[in-house]
Amino acid sequence: MKGIILAGGSGTRLAPSTTSINKHLLAVYDKPMIYYPLSVLMLAGIREIMIISTAEDKNRFEDLLGNGSAFGLSLTYREQQEPNGIPEAFIIAEDFIGKDDVTLILGDNIFYGQGFTPLLRKAIKNHQHATVFGYRVKDPERFGVVEFDDNQNVVSLEEKPEQPKSDFAVTGLYMYDHNAPRLAKKLKFSKRGELEITDLNKEYLKRGHLSVELLGRGFAWMDAGTHEALFEASEFVKITQQRQGFKIASIEEIAYYMGYMTKEALYQKGKALEKNDYGRYLLDIATREHSKQYWDGQDHSPMLEVLK
Ligand code: DAU
Repeated sequence: MKGIILAGGSGTRLAPSTTSINKHLLAVYDKPMIYYPLSVLMLAGIREIMIISTAEDKNRFEDLLGNGSAFGLSLTYREQQEPNGIPEAFIIAEDFIGKDDVTLILGDNIFYGQGFTPLLRKAIKNHQHATVFGYRVKDPERFGVVEFDDNQNVVSLEEKPEQPKSDFAVTGLYMYDHNAPRLAKKLKFSKRGELEITDLNKEYLKRGHLSVELLGRGFAWMDAGTHEALFEASEFVKITQQRQGFKIASIEEIAYYMGYMTKEALYQKGKALEKNDYGRYLLDIATREHSKQYWDGQDHSPMLEVLK
């Protein structure tokens, strides 16, 4: 399974904050937004990841994350010339996907919750053609909406419907087989001038190839695409982290517990950032005796399944 993070777009909804910087490099509380979707792919066990952004911002992402080897990943970068729509990612990444399955995550999506790692891994294991993740929201009209029957079979999909047929939004996390680029190329531009991910999902649905996984009430899912949403996401991260003392989406911590990063490398990274809480957090993990066993004993740890 390959991974793609889509981190382009025009960011107009966050202007002027995004006039000279890509939205996905803005901080969600104490780390760049892109750390959050990247951590999801890492927890899913995906290590070959392409980051798609605008031509102006490509180098900035590379400055931040490099070739990924520091985190045990292979990261490559590619440009999307214009924000022509989410499925264009598969056309841009066609050679990267090759004959593999692919998971796409939108760069402004934040997922958090107990049991997320096993849910992701199970979804990958059971994945056949296309899998989307549904989440109950109060304002479904803002999203892609999925309607399904009692057996969780998808009945219909609509993009930002005025009269939603269900309260379940399709989140910005999608798994597809290698046909995604071919099907994406057949899509037509929508009324708002974009290739729509909902239309790609409808292609899979037409073939009886779309399944939905539901994220229950114990999960938090947010997109940080407006000032309000970005602020709320930061608040959520701050409060959760302060209460528990665990950081959400620390890619260094995840890399360490996954066995991709040595204790020494974690220590050095912590040392370099020692002046702030993020660096001290990494130092604390790197210097804690038996820290893996410590995590193992905590059943709220997303790492638990990984360490078994
Ligand atoms: O967040 C989930 C929702 O994302 C889904 O429920 C919708 O079905 C899906 O269409 C999408 O809706 P949005 O209106 O939120 O999409 P938006 O245009 O805001 O783009 C989402 C992210 O993808 C954002 O981080 C920018 C990036 N993007 C978007 C487009 C259209 C790109 O990098 N390139 C693009 O061409």
